[in-house]
Amino acid sequence: MRIFLDTANIEQIKQAAKLGVVSGVTTNPSLVSQAGATDYEATIKEICSIISGPISTEVVVEGVEAMVEQARQISTWAPNVVVKIPATAEGLEVTSILAKEKIKVNFTLCFSVNQALLGARAGAAYISPFVGRLDDIGQDGMQLVRDIVDVFQKYPEIRTEVIAASIRHPQHCVEAAKAGAHIATVPYPVLMQMIRHPLTDTGISRFLADWRSVSRR
Ligand code: G3P
Repeated sequence: MRIFLDTANIEQIKQAAKLGVVSGVTTNPSLVSQAGATDYEATIKEICSIISGPISTEVVVEGVEAMVEQARQISTWAPNVVVKIPATAEGLEVTSILAKEKIKVNFTLCFSVNQALLGARAGAAYISPFVGRLDDIGQDGMQLVRDIVDVFQKYPEIRTEVIAASIRHPQHCVEAAKAGAHIATVPYPVLMQMIRHPLTDTGISRFLADWRSVSRR
């Protein structure tokens, strides 16, 4: 499973890039707003220049023609930009038009296997089931990831990659990997929690203390 960062915060992206484990970024309008970005296009272009992998950014207009037009525009911002299109009937139409033009689509706000299957058939490069938001309403969000992966594996002609999104904690990442998700997109704090373990910290302290006592002999 590859790791994407789910943020539009430039500092977090720069910090995470240094770790050498982040192969893409996903953003949405809420994340851009939280990052305090004022210039949407400049922010996305900067992210595209920091991380060379796929950078997903949301189309923020309604109606097929307007969405296609904005997606075409966004696709000129950088070679690695991916447009996020919502899992609706309009979104399917938009996705199939963009896929024919080789514009990569991340079919987002996906909450059912049927939405994922249709998105894949429309030619989406990625499908983003939102795990945490299903958990929030008392459903098992990770089961959706498992089900989508299972269905896609039954039809090898489907090349659409599954991005486990709306990840809230490290255990979500473990479960997404076990489910066979191609990618998990994680908030920066979750990424940092993934590498931490208290036994690693106490182990380092003990090794260093023992080493200091050896070197004093
Ligand atoms: O990748 C989708 C993500 O940004 C949504 O996460 O935490 O707002 O449900 P959340």
